[in-house]
Amino acid sequence: MEQTDAPVVSNTHLTGEYWLLEVEAPSVAAALEPGQFVNIRIRDSLAPFLRRPFSVYRVNPEKTRLQVAYKILGNGTRLMKETLQPGALCDLIGPLGKGFELPEDAKTIALVGRGIGIAALPMLADLAAARGVTSHAFLSARSRDNLVGAEIFASHGGQVFTHADDTPDDVALVTDHLLRMAESTAFDAMYVCGSNRLIRQVDKLARAHGIPAQSAMEQHMACGFGDCHGCIIEVNLDRDGESRGYREVCHHGPVFNTWEVANA
Ligand SMILES: Cc1cc2nc3c(=O)[nH]c(=O)nc-3n(C[C@H](O)[C@H](O)[C@H](O)COP(=O)(O)OP(=O)(O)OC[C@H]3O[C@@H](n4cnc5c(N)ncnc54)[C@H](O)[C@@H]3O)c2cc1C
Ligand code: FES
Repeated sequence: MEQTDAPVVSNTHLTGEYWLLEVEAPSVAAALEPGQFVNIRIRDSLAPFLRRPFSVYRVNPEKTRLQVAYKILGNGTRLMKETLQPGALCDLIGPLGKGFELPEDAKTIALVGRGIGIAALPMLADLAAARGVTSHAFLSARSRDNLVGAEIFASHGGQVFTHADDTPDDVALVTDHLLRMAESTAFDAMYVCGSNRLIRQVDKLARAHGIPAQSAMEQHMACGFGDCHGCIIEVNLDRDGESRGYREVCHHGPVFNTWEVANA
């Protein structure tokens, strides 16, 4: 983990409500694993005072640049769009947190994401493809143009199932597609981000099939590395949920086993 002033390469509209920031940060990009995040300080501004955490969307093949896909929610992300333009420096700390684990012998995996939670998954799809693992994507969003990164998942050759809440023809939910595909496809692992409902459903399916499943959590954060205890969630300490405990998402996560966070 290191702090760096990363030159901004681009910061452009991605799709729907989302923007894509790309920065030059070779030492961070080279060390990043899928599911890890970076903590960005909005420069030349005391408000917001705290850094803002973002999943890394993708790293370029040379591992010199990293991308963040973000939705403008409040002051921090609005200033990110306005001030982090080419020529500016992006003050970031990373890589932070614990990323996804891709089993060595995995052949087929399922990636399940909703809304901006999808942004945590393309880097995992890239890693899977590089290792010859087939990934099938199950993506949902409020509207079709908010289905972030659908073309990235498709480019790796796996199937991509989508659901947009505002599209009347989309009768089947992504979990319907996932359940149906799981009847004929032996997934070796599942990964989910962006919705507690999806986490619970993926966990149920993973338990039924006896395979690992992991979820990236997106809690409010302050320090980003385990010092302030501002991002604590209650987790299961055993698979039956009989024993419960507390974990910092930034430090123990953001990636957890779904059985740990299915009722977080
Ligand atoms: C590990 C991690 C990875 C993340 N990855 C991404 C990403 O890839 N792309 C992306 O757009 N966002 C991501 N987020 C969320 C992102 O950090 C927030 O959207 C951002 O901090 C909002 O800052 P702001 O100043 O614009 O909004 P604020 O003014 O801080 O908040 C505006 C509104 O958004 C809500 N909000 C802020 N942060 C969160 C959050 N973490 N969860 C739910 N609601 C929140 C606030 O309650 C408030 O209602 C991630 C968060 C975490 C913890
Ligand atoms: S954000 Fe400070 S401990 Fe997690």
